[in-house]
Amino acid sequence: MLNIFKKAQENKYAIGAFNVSNLEQVKAIVQAAQNLQSPVIISTSEGESNFIGKKQIRLIIDAYKEQTGLPIILHLDHGKSFEAIKEAIEIGYDSIHFDGSKLSFEENIEETKKIVDFAREKGIKNIEGELGYLRGGSNIHKTIEVKPEDLTNSKQAEEFVNKTGVDSLAIVIGNIHGISKSGESPHIFLDRLEEINKVVGDEIGLVLHGGSGIKEEDIEKSIQLGIIKINVNTELRVAYTESLKKSLQDDPDRVTPYKIMPPVVEAVQKVVEDKIKIFGSNNKS
Ligand code: 13P
Repeated sequence: MLNIFKKAQENKYAIGAFNVSNLEQVKAIVQAAQNLQSPVIISTSEGESNFIGKKQIRLIIDAYKEQTGLPIILHLDHGKSFEAIKEAIEIGYDSIHFDGSKLSFEENIEETKKIVDFAREKGIKNIEGELGYLRGGSNIHKTIEVKPEDLTNSKQAEEFVNKTGVDSLAIVIGNIHGISKSGESPHIFLDRLEEINKVVGDEIGLVLHGGSGIKEEDIEKSIQLGIIKINVNTELRVAYTESLKKSLQDDPDRVTPYKIMPPVVEAVQKVVEDKIKIFGSNNKS
């Protein structure tokens, strides 16, 4: 397990994993982490990695690490194939997530194990697997109904962890990707989290995807019940887009990117700072 996760688990706080696809988002996250002296994970999905470039994001993070001295982890989010994972590892990602949740339980175990074996040999210290049906995408949607069968089953979680050897596990406990137009928060099944934590919580770290739009109270309780990594994307995207629209509207004649973008960076940074405080990772760098 990564050191930052061990410390989070021992002291009951969570590390935020924030998605990016451009430099302004990275800048906002790093500035937030620096202000609050927090360890931070910067994630790129396959689509986001393809846009910013895997090599490019690695070098950008290296530059920020050197400048700030902060523990900044570069993580591949929802890698869907062996090839995508292999490429990220070869380029130098620190941490990877293989999402085999759309496969059958047996196939998910088989594919995840293959990836664990490969990644271990390459020295990767955080390999995240996924179990359960996580609905939605990182955007604004109408309502999404989570069904009881979507939730991660604790017995399966135990078998999955034992057979694959993952370091962390993304689980479904009512969480969804994205936020709903109505502003309603998803119901988080804390009892299911407690059950899962009892069987696997000592061996691995539990990960909560879909961190946008979850009630602060549920986030805090989830951390007490074993969540050590929380992924956030949509709320950052909304802050980015809304402030960009405003910045352009405020001065329609403005065409200088470095004058248009500062309020956008500031808006994203504010969301990240709020999350870091809720997750309790401030002053833990
Ligand atoms: P949100 O977009 O709901 O914050 O979820 C992000 C996520 O889980 C990335 O893996």
